[in-house]
Amino acid sequence: ELPAEVTIWEVGARDGLQNEKEVVPLDVKLEFLQRMADAGLGVLEATSFVRPEWVPQLADAAELLAGLQQVPGVRYPVLVPNSRGLDRALESGVRDIAIFAAATETFTRRNLNRGLDEQFAMFDPVVQRAVGEGLAVRGYVSMCFGDPWEGAVPVEQVVAVGKRLLEMGCWQLSLGDTIGVATPGHVESLLRAFVAAGIGVDRLAVHFHDTYGQALANTYAALRNGVSTVDSSAGGLGGCPYAKSATGNLATEDLVWMLDGLGLKHGVDLGKLVETSVWMAERLGRPSPSRVVKALGAA
Ligand code: HMG
Ligand code: MG
Repeated sequence: ELPAEVTIWEVGARDGLQNEKEVVPLDVKLEFLQRMADAGLGVLEATSFVRPEWVPQLADAAELLAGLQQVPGVRYPVLVPNSRGLDRALESGVRDIAIFAAATETFTRRNLNRGLDEQFAMFDPVVQRAVGEGLAVRGYVSMCFGDPWEGAVPVEQVVAVGKRLLEMGCWQLSLGDTIGVATPGHVESLLRAFVAAGIGVDRLAVHFHDTYGQALANTYAALRNGVSTVDSSAGGLGGCPYAKSATGNLATEDLVWMLDGLGLKHGVDLGKLVETSVWMAERLGRPSPSRVVKALGAA
């Protein structure tokens, strides 16, 4: 069964730009967000309040929030790893945050400077305080399928991490294929394992990277299994600076093309979004890897 409507969780300004070698100027980031809102995207992950030494690309998070002309009805979530990050996000008036856990020991150490178990001690006070202040807290789980250092990741290990984040107070989990190694059968197995553990697909979102060209196939498998929130990145920007071999996210244009073909509602003006990605590609000095941007943007 396919959902009638899909929520696109646009991560280009965060997952995309965190990975650029050159820091993208603030005015370009702001115009990017404005153009994506104009194209009809309803959720725009805007930036991260992480330690600036770790991700200098997003060190301007406070300035970005201060300069952002928020479009009514659009959500602008940000990533927050710890209490210091939550302080900074609250100072900027943020109401929508995401913590980001991982399913493997190696990656939590590389991405959070914490072990697999230690990550929960860092997140717990963040989630308690944020929920107490009335914020919505999403929980990412990275390395849900494979890890570049540990290989294939058992579904039980992923479910155990996800369950703890939901029990902590996250309203939704985003299941991340950080390095893009998932295939559709694996996606279905993981979703079924969550359901068997008592976690409904209505609490789950998927976050695919297109390293091996499987992101759309994986998305289709997730939709067929009842998932109705899909993360993607305009123009297929993205990666993760702390994950070897993580390349671009599923391109939002590729996703929209498929959703249109399936007749599923999403609210995005594909033409405007393609124009935005072509514009962004010019700013970054290289073409978008998205096939749909290539096909429609070549005017
Ligand atoms: P740490 O170095 O262990 O930090 O970093 P610490 O807790 O030891 O603190 C050391 C100093 O840093 C202190 O300053 C803190 O105040 C400061 P001092 O007292 O020494 O002067 N500090 C901060 N400053 C500003 N903002 C903060 C902050 N935190 C500490 N938030 C930490 C630990 C978690 C902070 C670090 O590892 C970090 O920032 N990691 C973020 C890495 C990241 O952003 N990765 C990319 C996002 S995840 C991703 O892309 C995957 C995803 O897309 C899904 C998928 O594809 O799988 C979501
Ligand atoms: Mg990602």
